[in-house]
Amino acid sequence: MSEIIVVDSFDYVIFGGTGDLAQRKIFPAFYHRELDGQLPTNARLIGVARSEISAEDFRSRVEQSLHAFVAKDLIDADAMARFLDRVDYQRVDAQELSGYQELAASLAAAPDRTRVFYLATAPQLFGAIAKNLSAVGLAVGQQHRLVLEKPIGKDLASSQQINDEVGQYFGETQVYRIDHYLGKESVQNLLALRFSNILFETIWSKSVIDHVQITVAESVGLGERAGYYDGAGAMRDMVQNHLLQLLCLTAMEPPQSLESDTLRDEKLKVLRALRPMSSADVQQHTVRGQYAAGSIQGEAVPGYAEELGRESGTETFVAMRAMIDNWRWADVPFYLRTGKRMQERYSEIVIQFRAVPHDVFANAAPEQRGTPPEPNRLVIRLQPDEGVRMRLMTKEPGPGGMRLRSVPLDLAFADEFDQRFPDAYERLLLDVVRGNRALFMRRDEVEAAWRWVEPILEAWQAAGDSPRAYQAGTMGPAASSNLIDREARSWHEDMPSSVMRDVGRASNVN
Ligand code: BG6
Repeated sequence: MSEIIVVDSFDYVIFGGTGDLAQRKIFPAFYHRELDGQLPTNARLIGVARSEISAEDFRSRVEQSLHAFVAKDLIDADAMARFLDRVDYQRVDAQELSGYQELAASLAAAPDRTRVFYLATAPQLFGAIAKNLSAVGLAVGQQHRLVLEKPIGKDLASSQQINDEVGQYFGETQVYRIDHYLGKESVQNLLALRFSNILFETIWSKSVIDHVQITVAESVGLGERAGYYDGAGAMRDMVQNHLLQLLCLTAMEPPQSLESDTLRDEKLKVLRALRPMSSADVQQHTVRGQYAAGSIQGEAVPGYAEELGRESGTETFVAMRAMIDNWRWADVPFYLRTGKRMQERYSEIVIQFRAVPHDVFANAAPEQRGTPPEPNRLVIRLQPDEGVRMRLMTKEPGPGGMRLRSVPLDLAFADEFDQRFPDAYERLLLDVVRGNRALFMRRDEVEAAWRWVEPILEAWQAAGDSPRAYQAGTMGPAASSNLIDREARSWHEDMPSSVMRDVGRASNVN
């Protein structure tokens, strides 16, 4: 376990404090940091919302959420009491100045500490909140930091508008746009894998790689988020941010350092090199789907329309082929797919290498040669069961032939590191206090992502097609398989539950 460094003291103000994100993710993440002794004694967490509730009521709501979202064996009475002691509540209507004046008065008790305003609210409120914070003197200088949750807008214009509004009061270096995928341990490990092992750099390009697949499959459905999700859909909710960030980390050039801007400059170059899609490309290289009733792990689940209570044209699944127009990746397809109510929750990046240029084993008699050489494959499993698996061809033991077999070289992080893997928010929440912006999105990145995504959304709308139905519990509509099959490739589908460790099977000796 690495040494825990206590961060400088802070006041963290969470707008949308009674909401789902705050209760499910933000407070539990802070609680874990409390357990590790990383929070300074006097740091405060102030929930802010419109509800007329007392600080006491709010604390008991947070306590309930901790019981619901923190593993039972990590609930510790002393830590819980210490933690709840930091929690406070302020009633603020985002649009009305009076609540902000009270907030400013309560923050004035600790005038010098870092103040973070986390906006876990609808993005339409970001501008008004920034303006009102500024009006009560809570926006000037690096002491004041603003965290913006995604989605930042619905398209390029609305994202620019939000960024402009916020930018009138908070400078770019005070703004932290969160994409929680960047805080995931396994996603940071992608940086470690690529940039601290020389062996990958020379093979990380079109000369050796045939294609890349990025899958983020979820088994959950719409849940309680109908209001937001039905207006967004999988493209805005997942692809514009999480999947494109994964693509950037996979495809970017080695940055000169992990300084915030150096890293983000490299990601931005990838976003700008994404080949724009014409309407014809969109027809050919994208698939939208929506789940119909089905069953997941034996349990019957309703379809999207049924959950929503009406018919809808919103996609809950996207598969697509993206191309990156630069030297490293010319002609290497990046296949992306994500969806809700899929067979299982798992996310992975698959690097599929090319076949060997010439098969030296081809002349052996069939009974002596085993499997023909299969192209190598590197699977970076992001969740669950974080790890890295490389498939290599080896010779089966035994005399009399050269029988080949594909076997995995496995690194399961849980086996190697005997400790809890922190949730993405734990890292990111405190990075804001540390002033480390590397794992947050810069304005130009968000806008470059929208610039690429928007024509696809527009082409879908112009075509007017409904999303294709897929049965809940499957890996999406059949068209998603066709998208990749017709290019003589296929989706990698070793589900976490079905992956069997290939352990020394007895070989036939002749
Ligand atoms: C969020 C999306 O950003 O990410 C959700 O809004 C999605 O729809 C979630 O379920 C997935 O995150 P994770 O960490 O569970 O993979």
